[in-house]
Amino acid sequence: MNPNPQTETFRGQELEVAAQAYIDLLKRILTRFIGQEEFAEIFYHKRSWQEKVFAPIKAVLNTKGYVMCKRVPFDPAARTVGIDWPPGAETMVGLRRLDNIEHCVKSVIADGVPGDLVETGVWRGGSCILMRAILKAYGVSDRIVWLAESFEGLPTSTHADDLLLRPPIFRACASQISRGLSEAS
Ligand SMILES: C[S@@+](CC[C@H](N)C(=O)[O-])C[C@H]1O[C@@H](n2cnc3c(N)ncnc32)[C@H](O)[C@@H]1O
Repeated sequence: MNPNPQTETFRGQELEVAAQAYIDLLKRILTRFIGQEEFAEIFYHKRSWQEKVFAPIKAVLNTKGYVMCKRVPFDPAARTVGIDWPPGAETMVGLRRLDNIEHCVKSVIADGVPGDLVETGVWRGGSCILMRAILKAYGVSDRIVWLAESFEGLPTSTHADDLLLRPPIFRACASQISRGLSEAS
């Protein structure tokens, strides 16, 4: 049976709408753009009064399997541009930068630019999860998404004024990355 061009076009449009809805929803999930208060593990500046007060309590709580957290109110403006540290999200880059990744991946597909995709410094892998999801949504199976990660978080600052402890939230975890990738594909 010959395909009806009008029906095929309609199906193509429906698929495009479904693909875009999936990508838009995924971006909100990966950034936890869900409007809810979250909880983040407490960290503090070296030699601060908070370190003196919290460190011993934290040490005891940790031995009992508890984690000391603080409330993190949801700030849509900050999460949009990626200037907060989302405690539970797979990416910290925010919605607008994910839009940019989406634009770049779609451009290389549409323009037939050859090659694989890579992110260097993936943290929890959310940006790569999005890249893989876009490739899948558009039926692209001949490109690999490569992930590079030190698993050491941010390098220790050598700046005299920078007393911030390296926050644990920055430490990437291989099992968290692979869980995220397998759940999204
Ligand atoms: C700001 S986070 C990246 C955020 C990530 N792109 C996202 O979508 O949320 C920086 C990441 O780079 C990693 N990193 C820092 N120095 C690195 C290096 N020399 N090589 C590879 N990864 C590095 C850190 O461990 C951390 O996971």
